[in-house]
Amino acid sequence: MNIILIGFRGTGKSSVGKAIASHMKRRFIDADDYLEQTVGKRIKEIFAEGGEKLFRQIESEIIEELAHLDDVVIAAGGGAALKEENVINMKRNGFVVLLEADTETIYKRLTEDTEGQAQRPCLTDKNHYDEIKYLLEYRKPFYENASDYRIDTTKLSVNQLAEKVIKAFTSHLERKK
Ligand code: S3P
Repeated sequence: MNIILIGFRGTGKSSVGKAIASHMKRRFIDADDYLEQTVGKRIKEIFAEGGEKLFRQIESEIIEELAHLDDVVIAAGGGAALKEENVINMKRNGFVVLLEADTETIYKRLTEDTEGQAQRPCLTDKNHYDEIKYLLEYRKPFYENASDYRIDTTKLSVNQLAEKVIKAFTSHLERKK
């Protein structure tokens, strides 16, 4: 079974995912990187060519493809849990983990990540802080509905988060036996 990390940009999906994969000796896949390699274009370029609509179509195809793998750790893009079809695919063979953080923490983390910021297309016409606040509120029910396990990332280290997720995943597998 796969472990799939969902949640907003800046909640640590890639760092925590890498730590989980390394602890469990599993392969780690960042769905956005995989998408860019498959299409041969940066996400920003895809948005520029066909808008968010085109990106979401491609994203769904990628999620569908990745969901066929087994025993991997996947960091999904921040908007992947918004479409029901993606959630169904993720859940088919995946333990879906929601990484959470508040607006202030996410804003701070994203502002510090200048390289990542240059690659992230805007999703609304709001300023950066208001966009985070608005989207977090809008997405909350989607994220919660998609997740099998939720964890607050504001006070724990990457390793502590990884350990907690692995523990929750192990109990999930035990319950399924
Ligand atoms: C998005 C988040 C990004 C990427 C795309 C859209 C979103 O992924 O998929 O820019 O809608 O929140 P990360 O969460 O990995 O930054």
